[in-house]
Amino acid sequence: MNRLLVTGGAGFIGSNFVHHVIEHTDATVTVLDKLTYAASRESLAVLPDDRVSLVVGDVADAAVVGPLVAEHDAVVHFAAESHNDNSLNDPSPFVQTNLIGTFTILEAVRKAGTRLHHISTDEVYGDLELDAPERFTEATPYNPSSPYSSTKAGSDLLVRAWVRSFGVQATISNCSNNYGPWQHIEKFIPRQITNVIDGGRPKLYGAGLNVRDWIHADDHSSAVLRILQQGRIGETYLVGADGEQNNLDVVRMILRHFGRPEDDFDHVNDRAGHDLRYAIDSTKLRTELGWEPRFSDFEKGLADTIQWYVDHEAWWRPHKDTVEATYAAQGQ
Ligand code: NAD
Ligand code: DAU
Repeated sequence: MNRLLVTGGAGFIGSNFVHHVIEHTDATVTVLDKLTYAASRESLAVLPDDRVSLVVGDVADAAVVGPLVAEHDAVVHFAAESHNDNSLNDPSPFVQTNLIGTFTILEAVRKAGTRLHHISTDEVYGDLELDAPERFTEATPYNPSSPYSSTKAGSDLLVRAWVRSFGVQATISNCSNNYGPWQHIEKFIPRQITNVIDGGRPKLYGAGLNVRDWIHADDHSSAVLRILQQGRIGETYLVGADGEQNNLDVVRMILRHFGRPEDDFDHVNDRAGHDLRYAIDSTKLRTELGWEPRFSDFEKGLADTIQWYVDHEAWWRPHKDTVEATYAAQGQ
């Protein structure tokens, strides 16, 4: 697999994946990205021109997707609308990109016979009780809560159907919450880091007791590459790094890092339908494919990420006022 097509490769996880591929393989990469508000050309700018190229286009545009897919050995499909809060305000682009976009990719790989890896989320499984011992496994029934997660669940089901009905050569991974460099500041961790850099207060939805299972984006990338190279066609793999934390504790870690009092935050309006807890059991990926995460200490990975946002203020600063104005209008 020397020629990879990476959809959504100018976004947070997609760009981390492209960096990972360039560092760890000899492959060349074409990024297909619509360059929505969530994309960043700068995240790809330091990569070698002779190995990475960018095509600006829509994954739901069959005329663009078809010829591109036919020229590559494999497609890694990250492109999506990814933010739950945005999906509550306007679900329309989520249906268009996450469902129609994935359908368009599937039809192209079906025609060309190209290998596909589809990127998905643990949110397709709904949520878990806060204090329960259960974690999601590949056998957990689908039960999505939000417009975002329901369109991701639908996209997974399309992939499964295209494997079974048409013999498409696809795998799926469902990963937990990612953190790391290049994440848009609308998301929880970079929003709070940049609030504190600005001398402001972190904003916790509701009581702040909701739990997320954090994984560094580079560990997600190594898992995706492993599945692409060694995964069994038609299989789903859950990706997680045993990183469960409640939101309150994450905010306290960030405040502590900057030497601020640990109670220096605001409670704001809760998210409608807010999922309580996600937790991943990644035994299948670890035992079948021998994958292990590199970032096992969340607080250390968080400290590296905080430093990255301190060092890259010029990257996020132009977006900060707009993001905060949108949240303020929602009482968040
Ligand atoms: P992101 O919002 O940072 O990036 C998405 C990228 O997709 C952007 O570059 C955007 O321009 C592009 N895009 C959007 N619509 C497009 C379209 N119609 N055509 C072409 N490109 C388009 O998202 P992310 O957080 O990097 O998530 C990437 C993928 O990983 C998504 O499929 C998401 O569901 C999945 N995922 C995310 C997380 C997480 O914690 N962020 C966890 C598990 C899975
Ligand atoms: O679990 C994987 C999912 O993780 C991905 O599929 C999504 O694309 C990704 O955005 C993420 O979804 P979440 O909704 O969990 O992430 P978000 O960063 O929006 O919020 C994380 C938690 O923090 C959630 O419980 C809501 C809360 N939150 C969020 C923001 C933006 C706050 O308390 N305050 C905030 O300001």
